[in-house]
Amino acid sequence: MRITILTLFPEMVEPFFRSSIMKRAVDKGIVQYRIIDFRSYAEGVHMKADDLPYGGGAGMVIMPEPLSRALIDAGAEGKRVIFPTPSGKPLTEKYAASLAAEDELFIICGHYEGIDQRVIDTFVTDEITIGDYVLSAGETAALVIIDAFFRLIDGVIAPESLEDESFNDGLLEYPQYTRPPRYCMKDVPDVLLTGHHGHITRWRCMKRLEKTMLNRPDLLSDASLSIDERRTLLSILDSEDKRTCQRWILSEL
Ligand code: ADE
Repeated sequence: MRITILTLFPEMVEPFFRSSIMKRAVDKGIVQYRIIDFRSYAEGVHMKADDLPYGGGAGMVIMPEPLSRALIDAGAEGKRVIFPTPSGKPLTEKYAASLAAEDELFIICGHYEGIDQRVIDTFVTDEITIGDYVLSAGETAALVIIDAFFRLIDGVIAPESLEDESFNDGLLEYPQYTRPPRYCMKDVPDVLLTGHHGHITRWRCMKRLEKTMLNRPDLLSDASLSIDERRTLLSILDSEDKRTCQRWILSEL
């Protein structure tokens, strides 16, 4: 996978590629990256890359010429080009997996009030949002998107580490514990110390359901739950939730 990042602030992006799991993927040759400062494609003594918005309004807009010159020079025409923006489609694990399957990706980091729409119309294939909030820098959103997909590329992370993660089958992950067995008067749950795989799996399954119910009940309606899991869910719900959910759960039994 080759990733090309187009940015006005390369110093925000570079450290990510030289740290931790991404560094390992780069060192192994699984990921190649280029960081292009598209200000170097601007003209004039001031190398201006942004200007006032037509129609008025606050802030500055990234000009089309320097950015499109950089994109053409980098070979982005006809390729998958991502633009992180609050008005994009939401990033999900499934979306990230579709990006991980590509050989080459381009990512444009916007800044200020955004980029000229004509660049989006000409080059961008994927407008992606990482959540319903506004960041000051497209670079941070770009790094979130890159982090979400590069770890799914074959060879970056051991497949078994990806197996029990949140969102795999529409549920959140179970809680994890490590040594010591007692910390701040809190004990590791007994079942995890028994070595009994069947009981541990059952406990984890219940915790995933509990956690999803508590933090992201919206995920439950799309989760692929077995009949056993639906029964467990029913036993976790309090009586008011039970009444609301009972019809849906029972209809699947
Ligand atoms: N740029 C600024 N805010 C963003 C967001 N929420 N998602 C993607 N890109 C952004």
